[in-house]
Amino acid sequence: MSNELSQHPRFTPRLVLRPFRRRDVGPVHEAVLSSLADLARWLPWAAKDYSRTVTHQFVRDSIGAWGDGRAFDFAIRAREDPDRHLGNVSVWWTSRTNRTGEIGYWVRSDMTSRGLCTEATARILQVGFEELDMHRVTLRIAVGNDASERVAQKLGFVEEGLLRDEVKVGAVWLDHTVWGILEREWRVERARYEAEAWG
Ligand SMILES: CC(C)(COP(=O)(O)OP(=O)(O)OC[C@H]1O[C@@H](n2cnc3c(N)ncnc32)[C@H](O)[C@@H]1OP(=O)(O)O)[C@@H](O)C(=O)NCCC(=O)NCCS
Repeated sequence: MSNELSQHPRFTPRLVLRPFRRRDVGPVHEAVLSSLADLARWLPWAAKDYSRTVTHQFVRDSIGAWGDGRAFDFAIRAREDPDRHLGNVSVWWTSRTNRTGEIGYWVRSDMTSRGLCTEATARILQVGFEELDMHRVTLRIAVGNDASERVAQKLGFVEEGLLRDEVKVGAVWLDHTVWGILEREWRVERARYEAEAWG
């Protein structure tokens, strides 16, 4: 099994998804700061003291993880305005032996509820199942994060269970639900993704 994933951009009808570059630090920092109130409810790294140094570290780690074949972070950009950072979508290995992976995402607050996360994640599922040959992909979603649950439902993920006190965000422990989709399920769902123009 190869550790490599091609760095070419992946396209959807509205979006370009591509690996991070060092010059992304400024646009990513701006996008996170502009969305901090929403991100900070669910994501532990989006703390009040989120800084340019943290962004720099993220971009550096992201480039390293892709090079090592561990995790693949994609910058979400509009085809029409590729310099503005819209968010991130990532896929990473949880077990190479069992061919299982996990996906995570966020979208900047002033661009939510336009279907961008669903469109980006549909394309990244194709990367997981076709390019990385995953058998199963999971999502972990904090209880109460209804928008993220809606993304999982639209993509045909199945809710599988509850992880208690899975992550600490600020001073609060959050329960997560686990959602999964198997390769054979995705092969059925993808016709719908295409009909919805997500793929
Ligand atoms: C969750 C998140 C990524 C969704 O991004 P997005 O681009 O708005 O997602 P989409 O537009 O593809 O789909 C969102 C769906 O949730 C719905 N929605 C939005 N807010 C909602 C809410 N408070 N309650 C219920 N549904 C909601 C939208 O209407 C849409 O559903 P629809 O297409 O059926 O109308 C974005 O809100 C975000 O980044 N949130 C903060 C970080 C985060 O939670 N990341 C995920 C961690 S698991």
